[in-house]
Amino acid sequence: MAEIAHGLRDVVVNETRLSTIDGLAGKLTIAGFPLEELAPNATYEEEVYLLWYDRLPNRAELDAFRQSFREHRAISETTMTVLRAAAKKQAPMMDALRMGTDTLSLNDPEIDNMSTAANLRRGVRILAPMPTIVAAYWRLIHGQEPIAPHPTLGHAANFLYMLQGEEAHEGSVRGLETYLNTVIDHGMNNSTFTARVIASTRSDMYSAVVGAIGSLKGPLHGGAPGPAMDMVFEIRETSARTGRKIEEVAAEWVNGKLAAHERLMGFGHRVYRTRDPRADVLGAAAEKLYQEAGDMQLYTDARAVEDVILKALAAYKPDRPLKTNVEFYTALVLHGVGLDAKIFSSIFGISRAGGWIAHILEQYAEDELIRPSSGYNGVYDRKWVPIEKRG
Ligand code: SDX
Repeated sequence: MAEIAHGLRDVVVNETRLSTIDGLAGKLTIAGFPLEELAPNATYEEEVYLLWYDRLPNRAELDAFRQSFREHRAISETTMTVLRAAAKKQAPMMDALRMGTDTLSLNDPEIDNMSTAANLRRGVRILAPMPTIVAAYWRLIHGQEPIAPHPTLGHAANFLYMLQGEEAHEGSVRGLETYLNTVIDHGMNNSTFTARVIASTRSDMYSAVVGAIGSLKGPLHGGAPGPAMDMVFEIRETSARTGRKIEEVAAEWVNGKLAAHERLMGFGHRVYRTRDPRADVLGAAAEKLYQEAGDMQLYTDARAVEDVILKALAAYKPDRPLKTNVEFYTALVLHGVGLDAKIFSSIFGISRAGGWIAHILEQYAEDELIRPSSGYNGVYDRKWVPIEKRG
């Protein structure tokens, strides 16, 4: 039997033009652009266009693309009914995103058309309303009525408008846009692979995106930014209450978690053996946000906690580099934009969906069924025993 690749570690399953990670050098390239070149400069719509069409749009193409997003942002009464039912149960954000996204297929006027052109239109029909689902559900579980999409704002600005009921200031929109651009695609991560596995059977795009949402919900994947922010707040609160230095409180907190063999959210990565380059891009965006808000203390405290954690992890696993990953600074940026930790994973989802759809389109073009093997460690040749004769 061939050697088992547990967790498919280091297994190369296909080729893609969409993104690549250099885990040793700590570099991320998205459709030919170094992350640092793209994330702070592009609008999210430009980056989606780049992934789906393999080039940046010109002005006319971008205007038409953004207009197609505006035309498909609204969600149907059916979707809203599902969200209201989920809100009654106080279902988690990611469950509501999954359930809401699934209902979008009911409004697809060409559901059986699997041509590339139809699937590109379908990509907009899925990506454009996902922020509306998240914003509507967030308001519903907080006892507020959803706000209809803004008629003219861009994708990121409209999301904040639907959440907060007013136009966000430019710094917040830029901070959110940089975040959405940073996490849109990241090689063959678990949720992207999930989407491709589903698409490889020639199943529809809704099924593939909904499957990927289920994967991203997991704390080992997209579920980490919330707990990472909670960790920083817990340490800060203890430091303020006891008057002890934040570094001292952080060391005590972290060592307790490691002694209990708990994983520290926001650190470590399957591919990066050095600092996740996204941490630096988001760290810079966070610093700008806190400077503009005139409150650098949280940012300074978070950096202090990060330094303590990195030292503790180096001592804990001297042979395994466990560095800061994207989630630690995701928490700082999204908090700096004024968002609550409980919404972070669903914002990861509405960004990554742009990448999932690009991979689904690529998988359709490749048209190769993904079907690995497994080793059998069970028994053979058992004999049937009628129920009355069983012990
Ligand atoms: C994302 O794949 C992607 O690209 C994902 C992602 C994307 O953009 O799609 O980058 C997004 O998922 C970022 C990661 C978010 N998750 C977290 O921050 C959760 C905490 N991190 C860990 O759970 C962990 O680092 C993983 C899951 C991210 C990666 O784990 P690996 O590569 O499978 O490493 P491992 O589980 O084999 O760990 C090796 C050792 C273990 O100790 P032992 O069991 O050998 O004693 O290191 C330990 C782990 O327990 N370890 C940690 C740790 N991460 C690994 N210990 C404490 N804290 C951590 N964060």
